[in-house]
Amino acid sequence: MLKTPSMEGKIHVGKDAVKKRLPKLTEGQKNFVLTDSNVYALYPDWFKKYFPHTEIFVLPAGEENKNFQSLYCILEKMTGAGLHRTSRLFAVGGGVIGDIGGLAAALYMRGISCVQVPTTLLAQVDSSVGGKTAVDLGGVKNVVGAFYQPCEVLVDPTFLKTLPKREIKCGLGEIVKYAALSGEIFDLLRDSEKEWTDLSFLETLITSCIRHKARVVEADEKESGERRSLNVGHTTGHAIELTSGLSHGESVLYGMLLETKMAIAAGICEKGYGEELLALTVKAIAQSPASEMDFSSIEKDAEKARSDKKNTDDGKIKMAVAKAKGVWTMYALPFEEYKNALLSAVKE
Ligand code: NAD
Ligand code: GLY
Repeated sequence: MLKTPSMEGKIHVGKDAVKKRLPKLTEGQKNFVLTDSNVYALYPDWFKKYFPHTEIFVLPAGEENKNFQSLYCILEKMTGAGLHRTSRLFAVGGGVIGDIGGLAAALYMRGISCVQVPTTLLAQVDSSVGGKTAVDLGGVKNVVGAFYQPCEVLVDPTFLKTLPKREIKCGLGEIVKYAALSGEIFDLLRDSEKEWTDLSFLETLITSCIRHKARVVEADEKESGERRSLNVGHTTGHAIELTSGLSHGESVLYGMLLETKMAIAAGICEKGYGEELLALTVKAIAQSPASEMDFSSIEKDAEKARSDKKNTDDGKIKMAVAKAKGVWTMYALPFEEYKNALLSAVKE
């Protein structure tokens, strides 16, 4: 049986991660850098320092650019740059850049190595690790992609200093997801005396979340079992993202809120624990009040859950939900029941 390659020694976290590893990884072959317009504008000297002679492709920032047209342009540029099989692609940015960059690396010459340098909290705690790469198509999130593991992931939390508060909140969306899966991360968040936005606290959270994710991915790379747990809050979250235009992380927070309420109401999630998890979710949402959700389009959101990748031919909507501290389960409902449960959760 094929085993997922171990990620041990491939993920480096800390303010020296880039300084120590990047010069070694860039030397000796032709490279290609993918970043987005915001990151490039914020860090011109960083790019000059580490990539003085490298082709840098700057994608306009935003989820709307995580599509086939952008992928085509990136691959065209890579071909024009004369990259070889031994070349490396460096994806420097948030989850959008990591996902599309990883897919371009997977496709070019049937796969060149990819180094992830995540610059958002969401990408540092979650998307840069685990090898899910994708673009959106036809109004469906991440529907075209590949499992393609990065050769290394360099996580430097100092990038977070320039991240707007609302983007920190997005990262907290995935962190609360990990709190629903790991008792250790749940306790870290619940018992923290530091602000959740404190950089040293975030570094502790990043390390714990990555450790949890790496263990899950090593056990189940292609998501036939335990990796489904990493989709807590995501069935409804992705549906909200597609209809509301909110970002991925914020949508996941609202997805967590509603799916946890549904699981408590159905007696699947222990009430006392579920209420504590809801309190953590609400606290994360309150970190940036700029994006209150009004839930008026929740029936439309429910429709979008029909295209979730976890669904199968039985027509049921499938959710990974928290059950008790450190315990999760799959919860499947026929569409009409899902919609009604969602409407009740919104009214609660
Ligand atoms: P993003 O990549 O759009 O980044 C958010 C914003 O932050 C962008 O405007 C970006 O330009 C800006 N930014 C990036 N780094 C910055 C910095 N250091 N300082 C200031 N601004 C900065 O979004 P995201 O939240 O990072 O990622 C969301 C994407 O990740 C979604 O497409 C989602 O589907 C995907 N995702 C993938 C996985 C996976 O396992 N592959 C997991 C979770 C989410
Ligand atoms: N973010 C979900 C996963 O990586 O499986």
